[in-house]
Amino acid sequence: MYKIAIVTSNISRDYDSADLFESGADRAVVSWINPLDLCGFSSNQKNLITIDNLAAQEYDALILRRLNKEGDLDFQFELLQRYEAIGNIVINSTYGLQISESKFLTNFNLSRFGLPVVPMLATQRLSLALDFASSYQEIVAKPAYADLGSGVIRISNKASAKKALIKLINHYGCIVLQPYIKSNKEDLRVFVVGDNVVGAMKRFAAKGDWRTNIFLGGRSKQVQLNQQLRDLAVKAVQIVGLDYAGVDLICENEKYYVLEVNGSPSWQQFQKTTGKNVAWEIISMALRKIRHKYSCRIFTVS
Ligand SMILES: Nc1ncnc2c1ncn2[C@@H]1O[C@H](COP(=O)(O)OP(=O)(O)O)[C@@H](O)[C@H]1O
Ligand SMILES: [Mg+2]
Repeated sequence: MYKIAIVTSNISRDYDSADLFESGADRAVVSWINPLDLCGFSSNQKNLITIDNLAAQEYDALILRRLNKEGDLDFQFELLQRYEAIGNIVINSTYGLQISESKFLTNFNLSRFGLPVVPMLATQRLSLALDFASSYQEIVAKPAYADLGSGVIRISNKASAKKALIKLINHYGCIVLQPYIKSNKEDLRVFVVGDNVVGAMKRFAAKGDWRTNIFLGGRSKQVQLNQQLRDLAVKAVQIVGLDYAGVDLICENEKYYVLEVNGSPSWQQFQKTTGKNVAWEIISMALRKIRHKYSCRIFTVS
């Protein structure tokens, strides 16, 4: 059986990782890696990345869910990047994760490949943010790197725009701005694994809010997607370079835009809403990737 490890800071407090662990148990040897146990060694004689004293190559694939804030996040990510660069499987790929963590890079890459996106300005300067705000009736401003709806604000009143934007820039350094999309306070969350759409749900903002994040109390309902939206979601994940993702599509006047591609999506609510087994699909995809890697190796050895 192949060896798969789930990388997360605390498996007992992480629903999705525990679900992966369980889903993989009868199809692979699954273990848990605490990112604090990642270690690097380098000399003129050898270079080595170890996990819990084992050479990292002992694993056939790592599924990266969460780094551990008790240690150094940059170091943990750097080591996993290197580990992947020398030919090992990391899911999601560190390249894709880096793109998807940046709201601007995601928008930039998607638009370069012709996917419909909401215009976005990324800036560290208040004057540019104010110029942008003055060109729209209503805007949304958010941190360039954050999730769960935190720091995402809606500005409709020009008089209060300056104060709100100063506060956001001072706190986050870099922010992104977009026109507010009149989507009736709802959007679609599409779960993609590999080249397949596992399912989709419509998300509705909680009472008194306009952001649809489940974390903020948003509600959800299962929906069936047409082929065009399925293709859009799969393409978005491929462009960002992820193996699986939660893609958010927002609609105004019957036109859909890719709002976000989440590289570390949670799926507890999605699973409850759609009945789909996301962890099972992710483990199956990981096993396909491992098999593919080893079968390619047979053909390339001379
Ligand atoms: N330009 C926008 N127009 C309308 N609603 C938006 C816009 N941007 C974000 N939202 C709402 O705010 C929520 C959170 O924004 P998002 O960009 O997804 O950040 P996060 O990474 O924190 O989830 C979205 O799910 C959506 O409901
Ligand atoms: Mg979001």
